[in-house]
Amino acid sequence: MCGIIGYTGVKGAQEIMLDALEILEYRGYDSAGIAVCGEDSCVRIRKCAGRVKDLRLLCEKDGILGTCGIGHTRWATHGGVSDANAHPHRFGKVTVTHNGIVENYRDLVQRYRLEERLQSQTDSEVAAAVLDHFYSGDPLAAIRKTVLKLKGTFALSIMFEDIPGTIFAVRNVSPIVIARAQGGSMLASDVTVLGQYSKEYFVLPEFYVAVLKAGGVELYDMAGETAEPEWLTVNWDVDRSGKGGYPFYMEKEIMEQPQVIRETVLPRIQGGIPDLSGDGIPDSLLADCTRICVVACGTAMHAGLVGKALMQSLVRIHMDVELASEFMYTDVIVDEETLVIAISQSGETIDTLEAVKHAKKNGAKTLAIVNVRGASVARASDYVIYTNAGPEIAVASTKAYTTQLAVLYLLTGRMAYVRGSFGEEEAKAFARELMRVPEVMQKVLDRREEIHYIARSILNAQDVFMMGRGLDHAILLEGSLKLKEISYIHSEAYASGELKHGTIALITEDTPVVAVVTQDKVKSKEFSNIKEVQSRGAGVILFIKETFGLEKDAVWDSVFMLPAMEDGFMVMPASAALQLLAYYVSLDKGLDVDKPRNLAKVVTVE
Ligand code: M6R
Repeated sequence: MCGIIGYTGVKGAQEIMLDALEILEYRGYDSAGIAVCGEDSCVRIRKCAGRVKDLRLLCEKDGILGTCGIGHTRWATHGGVSDANAHPHRFGKVTVTHNGIVENYRDLVQRYRLEERLQSQTDSEVAAAVLDHFYSGDPLAAIRKTVLKLKGTFALSIMFEDIPGTIFAVRNVSPIVIARAQGGSMLASDVTVLGQYSKEYFVLPEFYVAVLKAGGVELYDMAGETAEPEWLTVNWDVDRSGKGGYPFYMEKEIMEQPQVIRETVLPRIQGGIPDLSGDGIPDSLLADCTRICVVACGTAMHAGLVGKALMQSLVRIHMDVELASEFMYTDVIVDEETLVIAISQSGETIDTLEAVKHAKKNGAKTLAIVNVRGASVARASDYVIYTNAGPEIAVASTKAYTTQLAVLYLLTGRMAYVRGSFGEEEAKAFARELMRVPEVMQKVLDRREEIHYIARSILNAQDVFMMGRGLDHAILLEGSLKLKEISYIHSEAYASGELKHGTIALITEDTPVVAVVTQDKVKSKEFSNIKEVQSRGAGVILFIKETFGLEKDAVWDSVFMLPAMEDGFMVMPASAALQLLAYYVSLDKGLDVDKPRNLAKVVTVE
């Protein structure tokens, strides 16, 4: 989850790394640090608890001149947030930054008698110490011996004190990408930052060692044989990664949705019908499976729930949605006839990655829906469909979610067509409605100040309940997560009919309720359930499909009329509205919307 950067070349390493760390901060923002090999060939470290801006201040007072360095922004796992636990860590001749978890660090501490010699409580310093133990002038040999001792996941960037101007990198699971840029060579934990500097990069293969020098990059396998990198092209518009005049990335990313959904959908409609052949998805994959199982976490898992509702009603295929973190431990049944769909914005979520590997071992076919090109989940899967959301920087996922939904609509449409649930005309009508999504969603975004006004009514709430049925419930699970993660208001989304089985005990005049009503077949039942909470004193904020109309005698705290689409597509405008609700609550509470406490954008620990 931590951000890693490294640079060696002809320019000042400190400035390049500080700029890059600011971009990388979304991966973790507990503490930050850099190590630079100075002109006298000494490696010096500056690091502190806090944000990159604090590190920048430190470097302004006491900077390090030099053209080779490694940097890090941390999301704490082992050891609290402190200056000492911030990376880089130096042990003897070795300086490292680390992303991942060394699971056997306690054994290593004992085995190499490190107890008295460590300066921090981190597993990362232990990795530096083991490297130093094995280092006697041959860096590749030391790295090789060290990685054989490490259990767990790691992306390590390494400097040896007596090899100035050179950075070594090795990894297991946790990603490292490498590029030629800025008059030298660079490495980073993800392409979002390297894309600012270079159009071409490669993903360091697991258990290969990269050697970065000013003049170029060499790649070695564990036997010490040279290898050729597999170069990839950055697939998104780097301009999109600025804030574009918005106060926070989250607002900008919400506002980008019509455009990125269009870019995700339009190339995949051919002859008026959803068509995934451009992604290399054979129709047989969709026609021959007997069941579908989604593995994903957080927001991506919520996208899977919407997909399940669509697939089951339109394709009539059995579909499960599993929390990726539970998948391996709950004896889920997957076999050769199961299509496992892994959904992940980053493509680096370790739980999702491990779930894909587990599914493959059990014979399932695997299809990834991923935003970041070349990411681990994409490479581990048999097939991949990329969402064209562009870089998503805010920790709270918005445009990645709705482009995941767009891909799930495309999959549903294609699957219904190839399995005969849709005839040609039905498939075309489905695609036409999907293509309307950007314009309808834009109407919600254009009225965002109405939602801003509504958000003020829950600013001081301790708890907010959300209720809806069917697809409305699936959307609210995501709306509730959004509110929790960026506003710190406790919130729960309930299937409306379930509230009275216990949770209604919590409803009082102090618990505002957000209700979404967009599904005709359950509309009247939803209204009855809403009356149940109103009778207990709760004020209700209603998001309703505009064509449904309101009962004359009903009283609402606020109402937002959602522009109409067919019921199955109302997820899209409703999602945008709920994202805006959470955003404005967080904004008006004066919180750091893009970097909510305790979270990180990419979750690479189990
Ligand atoms: O990169 P992924 O889509 O695999 O990430 C999964 C979750 O960690 C992510 O969706 C998380 O729940 C977001 N913070 C939600 O906004």
